[in-house]
Amino acid sequence: MQEVICTSEIQTKMFAKNLAADLNKGDVLVLSGELGAGKTKFVEGLLMHFGLQDEISSPTFTIVNEYHNEKIDVYHFDLYRLADIYEFENIGGEEYFNKGICIFEWGELIEDILPNDYIKITFEKGAEEEQRNLKIETFGTKYENMDFAKYKE
Ligand SMILES: Nc1ncnc2c1ncn2[C@@H]1O[C@H](COP(=O)(O)OP(=O)(O)OP(=O)(O)O)[C@@H](O)[C@H]1O
Ligand SMILES: [Mg+2]
Repeated sequence: MQEVICTSEIQTKMFAKNLAADLNKGDVLVLSGELGAGKTKFVEGLLMHFGLQDEISSPTFTIVNEYHNEKIDVYHFDLYRLADIYEFENIGGEEYFNKGICIFEWGELIEDILPNDYIKITFEKGAEEEQRNLKIETFGTKYENMDFAKYKE
């Protein structure tokens, strides 16, 4: 478990933007944490790296929003309203894992069918209004040697 503390929205976005530089097709991120914790802001920052941030829309009414350019495909899921893991399987959710970079807000709901290798970031509100403590866990071996502190500015 690694911890990165972000003391402003911009810092969270820059952290995600810098991390995105090391992400590729097939990478899977799970974002967890209460409403308003900063998960979608993190996704905005990640999309900034790929020049896709202008298109960000919260997938409130759909399960997945897709972002594409000539370099990458990014799939942003919000599973908050997912009834159960079968609903995810029924939309062919598992087929997305290898198609591009997959990011799952509330991804703990599908923990049982996630690939072996993924990064889980749990956002916790800190003492200050704009403080967010990011608890970062890696699953499988692919990400085990990553040092996440270096992505913070
Ligand atoms: N350090 C920070 N990092 C990210 N967001 C922050 C930070 N400090 C304050 N905020 C604010 O917290 C809110 C985070 O909202 P965001 O939509 O990213 O949350 P969320 O985790 O996606 O919530 P939901 O579960 O409802 O989708 C924004 O209003 C943002 O301005
Ligand atoms: Mg959100």
